[in-house]
Amino acid sequence: MASKSKSKKRTPRIARALAVGPGPISIQLQVNGQTLSTTAAPWLTLLQVLRENLGLTGAKQVCDHATCGACTVLANGKRVYSCSMLAIDSQNLQITTIESLATNGQLNPLQKAFMNADASQCGYCTSGFVMSATAFLAETPHPTLDELKKGMCGNLCRCGTYAGIAEALLTLSQANAPAAARGRRRG
Ligand code: FES
Ligand code: FES
Repeated sequence: MASKSKSKKRTPRIARALAVGPGPISIQLQVNGQTLSTTAAPWLTLLQVLRENLGLTGAKQVCDHATCGACTVLANGKRVYSCSMLAIDSQNLQITTIESLATNGQLNPLQKAFMNADASQCGYCTSGFVMSATAFLAETPHPTLDELKKGMCGNLCRCGTYAGIAEALLTLSQANAPAAARGRRRG
């Protein structure tokens, strides 16, 4: 059991939430190029506000403990676990969610690559993988298989579609590679 003094200890995030709360406050987020406003309790996570206040349900709440990656969105182009940051701390960041990837109902090339490689079973982890892969391929456009495994290790698939996910990313990166570089990437 936690000691009395330990149980009273507040993390900086809780302290920030209490300082502006405890009741609901106005929160403004920059999401997919739009400014979205809502009213929410200051201790809600970015994931909760995206899903429950803004209706953006693509990011999934699975572990809720910064472990599985199902809630991955981009913040200023970098991958973040949206279950593990407060919405109030996300207000000055450019948030990108999976809802922004398709255009006029057309999947983007990465989404198509996932579909073509059959890289989805349950679907809960898929949007997190796609968002993580979006940032990963921006950083490493032509990865080897080893680079891909390391670069995507923050996302878990409990039913084992890793081979399909790797196939999707490698196929896409090879298709985008200069002709001379094709065929020597699958190290
Ligand atoms: S739900 Fe956020 S990392 Fe699993
Ligand atoms: S496809 Fe979602 S956990 Fe495997």
